[in-house]
Amino acid sequence: MDHQTPLILPSLLAADFGNVAAEVKRAEDAGAKWLHLDVMDGNFVDNISFGPAMVAAVRHHTGMFLDVHLMIQRADHYLERFIKAGAGNISIHVEANYDSSVEATLKRIKSAGLSAGLVLNPATPFEAAKPFIHLIDLLLVMTVVPGFGGQAFMEAETMPKLAEARDYREAHGLKYHLEVDGGIYVTTAPIARKHGANLFVCGTSSFGPKDMKQAMHDLAASVA
Ligand code: DX5
Ligand code: ZN
Repeated sequence: MDHQTPLILPSLLAADFGNVAAEVKRAEDAGAKWLHLDVMDGNFVDNISFGPAMVAAVRHHTGMFLDVHLMIQRADHYLERFIKAGAGNISIHVEANYDSSVEATLKRIKSAGLSAGLVLNPATPFEAAKPFIHLIDLLLVMTVVPGFGGQAFMEAETMPKLAEARDYREAHGLKYHLEVDGGIYVTTAPIARKHGANLFVCGTSSFGPKDMKQAMHDLAASVA
């Protein structure tokens, strides 16, 4: 998929954890092509979600592309387990600690044949991504402080950075996707679209409504 086409990615974090297989099917039936999985370690962020076993379980139940967002320290130490679990893209935070380095971790993701993503927290400037920009397939600009679903979209803090990442990409002939994550609804997705995003992670706004198909349709229409 090219880096301009808009896509809505349901985030499993907002699903019913008591019925994961059914929830994954609900997302697929609602038209999702990519599913976003939030891995939290209770250290890099103030919450604990799930690990590689969940990614593998989801892989077993769907053909969707799995977009794994690692909000963990030492992602390089755990990396092989997420590769083995069937991730399609693995995104790592530039702010986290590594046994090796951000660069080595991105290179390992690529050499395993996966798509490699880099993530910036709202407070982290685009400048921090520049040393790695030639190594990545995707740049995730967090639109909330990571850790929890259901937070408010931080427009003023993140939209100028998103536009900067888009302009830099165009000026340098690069091809990375621009993803936004946190507080994405039909009201905020068009704002992010206008500033360059093509991948829209939607937790509450996709799994929340009873009619997920309608919700996905409305979200897609808002960025078309
Ligand atoms: C936030 C996670 C998000 C989360 C978004 O830490 O990275 O992926 O699921 O949830 P909503 O869409 O509810 O803001
Ligand atoms: Zn996420």
